[in-house]
Amino acid sequence: MAKTKTAYFCRNCGHQSPQWSGKCPSCSEWNTFEEEVIQRGSKETITNAGMVRINQPARTVKELESQNYPRYAIIDQELNRVLGNGLVPGSLILFGGEPGIGKSTLLLQLALQQNNMTVLYVSGEESEEQIKMRVDRVGLQNDLCWLVMETDIEQIEAHIAQVKPQLVIIDSIQTLQSKLIDSAPGSVSQIRENATRLLKVAKENNIAIFMIGHITKEGSIAGPKLLEHMVDTVLLFEGDKQHVYRLLRTTKNRFGSTNELGIYEMQGSGLREVSNPSELLIQQHQNGLSGSAISAALEGMRPMLIEIQALASTAVYGTPQRSTTGFDLRRLNMLLAVLEKRCGFRLGMKDVFLNIAGGIRMEDPGMDLAVVSAIISSNEDIALPELTCFAGEVGLNGEIRPVARIDQRIGEAKKLGFKKIVIPKHNKEGAYSGIEVIAVGRVDELISVLFG
Ligand code: TYD
Ligand code: MG
Repeated sequence: MAKTKTAYFCRNCGHQSPQWSGKCPSCSEWNTFEEEVIQRGSKETITNAGMVRINQPARTVKELESQNYPRYAIIDQELNRVLGNGLVPGSLILFGGEPGIGKSTLLLQLALQQNNMTVLYVSGEESEEQIKMRVDRVGLQNDLCWLVMETDIEQIEAHIAQVKPQLVIIDSIQTLQSKLIDSAPGSVSQIRENATRLLKVAKENNIAIFMIGHITKEGSIAGPKLLEHMVDTVLLFEGDKQHVYRLLRTTKNRFGSTNELGIYEMQGSGLREVSNPSELLIQQHQNGLSGSAISAALEGMRPMLIEIQALASTAVYGTPQRSTTGFDLRRLNMLLAVLEKRCGFRLGMKDVFLNIAGGIRMEDPGMDLAVVSAIISSNEDIALPELTCFAGEVGLNGEIRPVARIDQRIGEAKKLGFKKIVIPKHNKEGAYSGIEVIAVGRVDELISVLFG
C-alpha cells in the first residue's frame, strides 16, 4: 500500500512545506502551519525536453485573434456594472463577504432574476426549507433555476453535466469536499482542489460560476491567497450590519475595470439596487447643525455626495479619545495635527469622533476637506453655510491638493441642487455654470471661506 504523505500548509498564504515551522517563510505570519494529508499519484518520470512532442505551437502576438468576449446581460444593473458590463461565459468569480452580510441573498436573487438562463444553485450551508423561505421573501421566480443541496464535488460535477446550466452558484467554497483529499472541508488543500475542479468545469463547458467565499476576521477571504489568483474576478460584498447599505466592489477583474462600485439596500424583501446613492446618503442631513459637512466624494468611478459628522468636545479623561466609523483613524489623526499646527486650533485636548453616514466605508482622500470642515464647525459650534459641499485632499503642510475627476464631483453636486462647492485651487479650470465654485489653496483660507 502506498504510504500516506503529509505536508504543512500556511493557512494565510498557502505556502507548502515538508516540516512544520512557527513562522511562515513566505508571508512571515506566525502559527499558521497546519498538517494536511496529500495524496500523490505515481511519480511522473522526467523526460528530456528534446523528446517531448509539442501539443500547441507558440504563436506570435500578431497572429492572435482579438477576442470579443460575448457576455450575458445581467438584469441586476449594479452587479452588471461591477462585472464590467455583463457576465462572461466560462468565468470563475469569487464572491467574498462577512457572514450575514447578504451574499446568499444577492446570488439567489441573481439566480431567480436571470429568467433567460438555466441556473444551478448549489447550497452546502442551508436546508431546502431555509432556501424556500428566502425565495418567498425575495418574491422572484425562474422556472429554469435548479437547486441542489450538496457538498461533494463529484456529485456537483454530475449535476452540472445533467442540468447543463449557463450559470452555477456555489454556496460556499468552504463547504465543498473532495474524496481524493483526506483533510476536512474548508482546509487549504480541500479549497484548492475544489476550486481547481470548478475552474476546469467552467472553462471546459463555458459556464459562468460564482463561488461564495467567507471572509476571516482580518478581512481576507478564508483559505489561501491562491484562490484569488486562480479566479477571473474577485467581488467583495461589504457594509455595516447595523445599517442597511451594502457595497459591492471588485478587487480583481480580468474582464473589466476594478473601479466600479455597486450599492444595495437590504430590505425585508431582499436587496434592492440603489441607483441614486447621493440622494439617500444626504437625506438625513439637517441644515443649521454644527459638525456636519457634505463631501463630494468619489468611490471607484462613481461620484457620491455623502454626509460627514464630527464631534469635538473637551476630553473628560486625561488622554483624548479619537474614534471613527467608515474613515481611516490614522488619517483623522493626521488631519487633526494639521489643524493644530497650521491653523492654531487647540484640538490636542479634545475628544474627536468622526462618522460617515450610512455605515459606508470610504477611502477617497478627496474627503479630507469635508472632514476638516466638519471638525472646525463642531469645534467652533458654528454651522457650515447651507447647500455647500467640499472636495479636496489636505497635505501635511496644510496645502489643499488636487483631486481626481473634479468635473464629475461638481456635476453631481449641481444635480442635487447644491449652490456652492469648495475645491482645490489647482483643480480650478474652466467655467462651471449653475454652481458657485470656490477654490482654496490652503487650510487657513478655508476658515475665511467657511465663516466669512
Ligand atoms: P444572507 O444572505 O444569509 O447572508 P450571508 O449569505 O452573507 O451569510 O443574509 C443574511 C441577513 O440578511 C439576515 O440576517 C437577514 C437579512 N435579510 C433581510 O434583511 N431581508 C431579506 O429579504 C433577506 C433574505 C435577508
Ligand atoms: Mg449564506
